[in-house]
Amino acid sequence: MRVFVAGATGAIGRQLVPRLVAAGHEVHGMTRFESKKAMLDELGAVPVVADALDPDQVAEAVGTARPDVIVHQLTAIGALDMRHFDRDFAPTNRLRTEGTDHLLSAGQAVGVRRFVAQGVAGYGAYARTGGPVKSEEDPLDPTPAREMRETLAAIRHLEEAVLNARWTEGIVLRYGAFYGPGTSMAPDGEYAELIRKRRFPLVGDGGGVWPFIHVADAAEATVAAVEHGSRGVYNVVDDDPAPVAEWLPALARTLGAKQPMRVPRFIGRLFAGEAGVMMMTELRGASNAKAKRELAWRPAHPSWRQGFTAA
Ligand SMILES: NC(=O)c1ccc[n+]([C@@H]2O[C@H](COP(=O)([O-])OP(=O)(O)OC[C@H]3O[C@@H](n4cnc5c(N)ncnc54)[C@H](OP(=O)(O)O)[C@@H]3O)[C@@H](O)[C@H]2O)c1
Repeated sequence: MRVFVAGATGAIGRQLVPRLVAAGHEVHGMTRFESKKAMLDELGAVPVVADALDPDQVAEAVGTARPDVIVHQLTAIGALDMRHFDRDFAPTNRLRTEGTDHLLSAGQAVGVRRFVAQGVAGYGAYARTGGPVKSEEDPLDPTPAREMRETLAAIRHLEEAVLNARWTEGIVLRYGAFYGPGTSMAPDGEYAELIRKRRFPLVGDGGGVWPFIHVADAAEATVAAVEHGSRGVYNVVDDDPAPVAEWLPALARTLGAKQPMRVPRFIGRLFAGEAGVMMMTELRGASNAKAKRELAWRPAHPSWRQGFTAA
């Protein structure tokens, strides 16, 4: 198939493009920068220069490539201060609202068969009530932390726009927190740095449950969704959702860092805001049963326990 990847140069895109190429697909990879064309070329993609926020550029890029499938992996997360979650996610939120709409319009104009988009299983997507591990049927959070309202509204916009596009097979992959090469959890990444400096404390009981996924496994699941996914949502997470009180000390050990400091919730709120405290104490994990069953996919790193060390 001909596959158009928006976000081809990012942490997930760099894992995804070579796998699609190896599976025999013709990949067109989008970037804003002429300077990144060589990288895309090396990954095996036809480079396409366009800004996702410019509808005319997106229409032209997609119109020229005439893909069978569009994959939307656009984010612009960068440095994140949990106290100002929505402020720091504002560029990503635009990509998830306007960017999604432009890609869908361009895709409809050429009649793409599938549209696969990046969703979120971590950072507060699922309602913080009931059991610790959620399936795709469970409700999204109706009352997000105050500093995350715009971000979760943008995620909802993306999901609704993709799932309601009846002219195509609209698929949302709710990825767990990425770790592995090129991610913020990698040994040279931003989170690892904070953990080494003991600036990533364990807040309250550390009972927030995080879903993780190695970025290479996320890419494998995405190839499966591109090839035979059906309209709907899939959690793309590992087999082992775990509370912060388990994974954070383990990650610190793996990084050779001192154990994280423990702080009560009210101190946590000062440093990480309501959003940070929620993620440390209330977050829910996700189940990958549907993705395993319907995409015939298995993560090569079934648990972060071994995955962190391997990465
Ligand atoms: N599930 C998760 O845990 C998750 C999800 C996403 C990100 N993250 C983490 O956050 C870190 C930083 O993420 P990031 O958002 O900076 O992602 P990134 O890995 O740098 O990828 C962002 C992608 O979006 C593209 N892009 C952004 N704005 C664009 C625009 N206006 N037009 C066209 N393309 C555009 C970029 O392309 P060009 O720059 O080439 O134009 C790039 O390919 C990652 O390393 C990862 O660890 C985690």
